[in-house]
Amino acid sequence: MGMTAAGGSTDLTAILLTEEQIAARVATLAEQLAQDYQGKCPLLIGVLKGSIVFLADLIRKMGIPLEIDLICVSSYGCNAQSSGRISLLKDVAADLTGRHVVLVEDIIDSGLTVAWLLETLRERQPASLAVVCLLNKPDRREVDVPINYTGFEIPDEFVVGYGLDFAEQYRYLPHVAVLRSQVP
Ligand code: IMP
Ligand code: MG
Repeated sequence: MGMTAAGGSTDLTAILLTEEQIAARVATLAEQLAQDYQGKCPLLIGVLKGSIVFLADLIRKMGIPLEIDLICVSSYGCNAQSSGRISLLKDVAADLTGRHVVLVEDIIDSGLTVAWLLETLRERQPASLAVVCLLNKPDRREVDVPINYTGFEIPDEFVVGYGLDFAEQYRYLPHVAVLRSQVP
């Protein structure tokens, strides 16, 4: 597709989700969230770094009073695929007690990250705790996780763009693309 990375090589395959498709879906999710959280001043917690683009677009379409916070977890690198050994790199600032919390994730793959986050956040006794993810890769699920709002279900491919990275690259792409397999 002629998209060049820092090295200049063409290493992305076809666009999986266009900017327009993402925008339309995000608007619908935002509408659903706005209906469900009207009057509750929800606290949307974005999982760094992948979810920031999604979070920024989502909150600007919701049109209800809300708050945001950010959390960063690591399995073995802040954005590598999950190894199951998760630790907290940066906690939220907010007190979650009695709050309506919505965890905002870029992608759910094995489910280990979200499962760990839900367990960790639930201990802080929020009034409610829900999950919204832009992308869901159900084929690779290792633990069952409740997802309340899903943008798109996608096949088992490694994707980048719209916040998602491969080795910190490609987050800036306005669309979601499949990274060409390293093993031909
Ligand atoms: P899980 O714990 O396996 O569900 O992994 C979730 C995390 O792995 C996501 O938050 C991403 O950081 C990363 N990840 C999983 N699949 C992809 C992908 O296709 N592209 C980019 N990052 C991914
Ligand atoms: Mg992530």
